Amino acid sequence: MSETKKLFIKTYGCQMNVYDSERMSEALGASGYVETKTPDDADMILLNTCHIREKAAEKVYSELGRMKAFKANKPDLKIGVAGCVAQAEGQEIMRRQPAVDLVVGPQSYHRLAEMEAKTRRGEKALDTDFPLEDKFEALKNRPKARRAPAAFLTVQEGCDKFCAFCVVPYTRGAEVSRPVQRIVDEAKDLVERGVREITLLGQNVNAYHGTGPDGNEWGLAQLIWELDKVDGLARIRFTTSHPNDMQDDLIDAHAHCAKLMPYLHLPVQSGSDRILKRMNRSHTSDSYLRLIERIRAARPDILMSGDFIVGFPEETEEDFQATLDLIEEVRYGYAYSFKYSTRPGTPAAERAQVEDAVASERLQRLQALITRQQTEIQQGMVGRDVTVLVEKQGRDPGQMVGKSEYLHAVHINDCTAQPGDLVNARITEAVRNSLAGAQI
Ligand code: SAH
Ligand code: SF4
Ligand code: F3S
Repeated sequence: MSETKKLFIKTYGCQMNVYDSERMSEALGASGYVETKTPDDADMILLNTCHIREKAAEKVYSELGRMKAFKANKPDLKIGVAGCVAQAEGQEIMRRQPAVDLVVGPQSYHRLAEMEAKTRRGEKALDTDFPLEDKFEALKNRPKARRAPAAFLTVQEGCDKFCAFCVVPYTRGAEVSRPVQRIVDEAKDLVERGVREITLLGQNVNAYHGTGPDGNEWGLAQLIWELDKVDGLARIRFTTSHPNDMQDDLIDAHAHCAKLMPYLHLPVQSGSDRILKRMNRSHTSDSYLRLIERIRAARPDILMSGDFIVGFPEETEEDFQATLDLIEEVRYGYAYSFKYSTRPGTPAAERAQVEDAVASERLQRLQALITRQQTEIQQGMVGRDVTVLVEKQGRDPGQMVGKSEYLHAVHINDCTAQPGDLVNARITEAVRNSLAGAQI
């Protein structure tokens, strides 16, 4: 056994990066690393990065600048860059910041232990290949820690959709689905380690088409029904879905699978058909709205969430108004909205850009509308009974916090439950960004 070393991981970007950070920690466990919550005592710092918008990518370089100063007093400290900036910029990162010892892409991190050993020999290590072996399988037998009640499980990676603004098909590669049995085994292992709720992850999770135990290709709904059989697993969620891959059997699962939670993140990006076409989204505003009608017919209380981009090249005030109209019609419980960010190498980067001040102003209007809807939906929860998966202690003594079926954070005073318990609660108050409930 090698001596214990400390690993500090800072995670940016989407939930897939959160999942990957956990796997990277396991990968380095083989070299004697345990995670630490502060960079101060770390022997290795890993930044797991995001390339989706320019700001996200630039943040990495400013953070690396700080790390370099930090490293000046700690000559044995190794600095690594992982994730989507690593994939997109590889060698360029080492050129821009010589303090970086290691660069690893999102498909290669199962080889981290060897890479780390290389850095200890004073060499630089870079691996951004899309290897043929399965990284999840390669990490399968690593020691794993006890887990919090809610966990992520990546079932599908990559994207073949090539929306005109997006880097994901380049940083994460083509769509690949993991086989059903391996996902079920991982779910069972998570449950044994204390997990009650699993969120299935993928850049296009509902395009999932993994090999089933019968040798046929299974869709996401079939996978969900298989996970429904796992004893001790109480809740299933999935994210992120594409409107074009919302099959009938998945909608039906929302009606009939009790473990599948009534929450759906279904990004639309814009409400203007002209812009949707320019974005290469291959759905229209109307087809999206009709789809939501069908989903709500199956599960009337489902809480919808979405993503929006404002100021996409050539977006007019009229196009933007169509987005606001769509939002009015859907009523979102949550939404993530962004100003369009030019990503070099994507088709939209070449087009006439909307002035920044115009985009900022539109973003403000859109966010005001979303906040209003979100608040109304939260207020509407008052008096309703929900089930809360308790996650941890709250700020006040005797208070516990967790998530409702609808992913609302709920805090319960004088709560007798422990983390991992499901408790029934009546919502008494909607406070900013969370709900207060009383145990019933
Ligand atoms: N696969 C998912 C989400 C991928 S990225 C999907 O298709 O919905 C998450 C969100 O980031 C996107 O939904 C989009 O709203 C936003 N995004 C992606 N590229 C962007 C860009 N160049 N500028 C601004 N926002 C962007
Ligand atoms: Fe990006 Fe579009 Fe793929 Fe989502 S579907 S990851 S937005 S290219
Ligand atoms: Fe960012 Fe990569 Fe996720 S670019 S959003 S971390 S897939």
